[in-house]
Amino acid sequence: MAQQLDFLVGRRDLRQTQWREQPLPETLQVGQVLLAVDAFALTANNITYGVAGDSMNYWQFFPVDDDWGRIPVWGFADVVASEHPDVPVGERLYGYYPMSSHLVIQADRVTERQLMDASAHRQGLAAVYNQYQRVAADPGYRRDAEDAQMLYRPLFTTSFLIDDFLADSEFFGAGRVVLTSASSKTSLGLAYLLHANRANQVQAIGLTSAANLAFVKSLGCYHRVHSYDEIDKLECQPTVMVDMAGNGEVLAAVHDHLDKALRYSCLVGATHWDARKGARDMAGPVPELFFAPSHVEKRLKDWGGTGFEARLGEAWAGFSASVSGWITVEHGRGRGAVEKIYQLMLENRASPDCGHVLGLLEESA
Ligand SMILES: NC(=O)c1ccc[n+]([C@@H]2O[C@H](COP(=O)([O-])OP(=O)(O)OC[C@H]3O[C@@H](n4cnc5c(N)ncnc54)[C@H](OP(=O)(O)O)[C@@H]3O)[C@@H](O)[C@H]2O)c1
Repeated sequence: MAQQLDFLVGRRDLRQTQWREQPLPETLQVGQVLLAVDAFALTANNITYGVAGDSMNYWQFFPVDDDWGRIPVWGFADVVASEHPDVPVGERLYGYYPMSSHLVIQADRVTERQLMDASAHRQGLAAVYNQYQRVAADPGYRRDAEDAQMLYRPLFTTSFLIDDFLADSEFFGAGRVVLTSASSKTSLGLAYLLHANRANQVQAIGLTSAANLAFVKSLGCYHRVHSYDEIDKLECQPTVMVDMAGNGEVLAAVHDHLDKALRYSCLVGATHWDARKGARDMAGPVPELFFAPSHVEKRLKDWGGTGFEARLGEAWAGFSASVSGWITVEHGRGRGAVEKIYQLMLENRASPDCGHVLGLLEESA
């Protein structure tokens, strides 16, 4: 009998992993669809889903038990069995999957462009994560651009939203934006947008680890780049901070150094996931959490779905052309590849000029 293969991680210790095999369901309930997960991207963003698994309910999307969880990833899957009349076998869907070979969803609110998973355990979670795009009806979809879509599109959407939020707030009166984890894809997206569209208003200044300094400098999307031990080189001028690293010591060092010159501080990520406990009392404004799905909902109301897609699509066209020259995509399949790249991410051994696309299907049968 065909088997489903799942990559499980320890909810209290992300370094613990195990594989689970279970038979695929022989029958589906009315409305259920069985998906074969063909490919997914793995970046620090997915590690953050694990870090915030309990606090932000990321374990709830693909639940296992109290000790083990499945980390969500963005990718593509094919319908291999269907008990929904409007979702045929062979259809390809883009969306949020577990690091597994298969997933059963409860298809609901099926339109020409998308459908929702109405499984009970996913109710109450942000809608943007429960939507699956029907690629056959997506005018922006290209098979040869699938890697870019899963690797960068969800991250770039966040970059786009932060850029929009900061511009809408007139950069809180600041003339520079300092970004931590400047080498991350989400920071690169934001730096790209600031550089391309706001250069007369703000400068993007990157902070990164010494090992990634040369790479980030070579891209040309930051006005200036410093390593984390050069924070004292930042001029004390009105500044906004966008924190992608979540490193308590780095955050406090920027706050203490800039003090009243820091006009706004925004927490977006936690790439330095094992350095978060270093946070202490610090000068400057209290950092505010930026949760992308909330800002999406605001802009969907303001602009409507079509207006939102048009603005995002225009921004994406420019970024996707640039990033393909910055980052090389590497593909891996099977248990060994998934385990290796996952541990690489956890231990900060992944190179920022490489994007990883993975899959588990071949080992599931
Ligand atoms: N709030 C939201 O809605 C939202 C949405 C999208 C993304 N994010 C967050 O943005 C962050 C960036 O995600 P991404 O996928 O763009 O990252 P990415 O491209 O995979 O970032 C790689 C970079 O992150 C740093 N890094 C990665 N793993 C590390 C580790 N184990 N220890 C220390 N540093 C590490 C390094 O940068 P440096 O050397 O430059 O520090 C590395 O070059 C994530 O925390 C993600 O959750 C948040």
